Amino acid sequence: MKQDMIVILDLGNTENTTIARAIRALGVYSEIYPHDITKEELAALSNVKGIIINGGPNNIVDGEKIDVGPWVYEAGCPVLAVDHPQASCEKLDQWPQAEAELEAVLKAFVLEKCEAEKNWNMKNFVADQVELIRQQVGDKKVLLALSGGVDSSVVAALLIKAIGKQLVCVHVNHGLMRKGESESVIEVFQNQLDANLVYVDATDRFLSKLENVADPEQKRKIIGAEFIRVFEEEARKLEGIDFLGQGTIYPDIVESGTKTAKVVKSHHNVGGLPDDLQFELVEPVRQLFKDEVRACGLELGLPHDMVFRQPFPGPGLGVRCLGAITRQRLEAVRESDAILREEFAKAGLDKKVWQYFTIVPDFKSVGVKNNARSFEYPVILRAINTIDAMTASIEQIEWPILLKITDRILAEVENVNRVCYDISPKPCATIEWE
Ligand code: XMP
Repeated sequence: MKQDMIVILDLGNTENTTIARAIRALGVYSEIYPHDITKEELAALSNVKGIIINGGPNNIVDGEKIDVGPWVYEAGCPVLAVDHPQASCEKLDQWPQAEAELEAVLKAFVLEKCEAEKNWNMKNFVADQVELIRQQVGDKKVLLALSGGVDSSVVAALLIKAIGKQLVCVHVNHGLMRKGESESVIEVFQNQLDANLVYVDATDRFLSKLENVADPEQKRKIIGAEFIRVFEEEARKLEGIDFLGQGTIYPDIVESGTKTAKVVKSHHNVGGLPDDLQFELVEPVRQLFKDEVRACGLELGLPHDMVFRQPFPGPGLGVRCLGAITRQRLEAVRESDAILREEFAKAGLDKKVWQYFTIVPDFKSVGVKNNARSFEYPVILRAINTIDAMTASIEQIEWPILLKITDRILAEVENVNRVCYDISPKPCATIEWE
């Protein structure tokens, strides 16, 4: 292994990710694990130079106080416990609030006490992951859900580097893709990167499963479960597939609920897996934040456009066509999204704004069109900026651009008579509406 690592054990402290990122900012790799990591799991990790037990008032789960196992103190490296009086090691009452002081505390522990080397960079990360993937997979085959988004594309590139033709990419068009998206997946991966790619058009199958389902969590679970089933069917056709590659990233894990964190929404590549799942998972970027995934893509030589492509949720336009999905409203989402993207590109906003898309709710409003009363759907515009998708602020789109987008949507998209602009930050809103 090329990189030293500091392990953070999660005892319900809300600052786990802040600490992990602050350690990585020092140039040292850091991973977060649940408090009940077993002796064997801990021993299996390479190059652990130090452990941080991240305590605090949230260390109560189902009425019981949780704690780390005694083997954590015997792991053979320095241990620092924060806000955890029962710990038998070096202790700190709480993390300093000021950034500079936090940095000083972490420097003293990570660099001086643990003597961790500052060798966290993407070149080393890729080299380590390639080695870990080869160890995990051996000469077996991996099936990868290739949506064409940044996360799965980076995982595909990592897996191609590690195991070449042992990787089979499957692109499922669930009918909830953006306009032209499946076509571009085929172009980039099949034609340019010469990957082993299977294309499945499952539009009818997904839409019939989703008929009359209005609850957002249920929609997400159905889409996630159906995805896995389609992959299982493909795997049976392909013979000898043992692993499933996934583009899970760190915020997906946090928001789907770790042992101590509440569920915000179940991300479809974490929640909703059927119980009879037959694959072992390969998730090489599960410890990365979004900005780090992009850096990894660049390191792997993926095209700039693909690496900086805006993220797209696994359930696709399904969570932007609010409530029970209909083909009519789905088309309105797809067409308005295409217009928004086109106008953003013309204005240069595609390079500036992190994520932008449209939403169509499941209610109508009264309007007037061609001198007659209309009763049609609104389109909601959303454009946000963020570093890691955990918090987000809105892009303040200039009026002339907003008006141009509005004019085009009202003129070109059927069944729509109104355009609104969502100016809510995360929190309180999430980025997606469902
Ligand atoms: P939220 O809505 O949770 O979104 O603030 C945070 C980021 O995650 C994307 N997103 C998903 N990505 N699977 C994914 O891979 C999902 O199920 C999913 N849901 C939301 C969202 O578009 C935003 O960038």
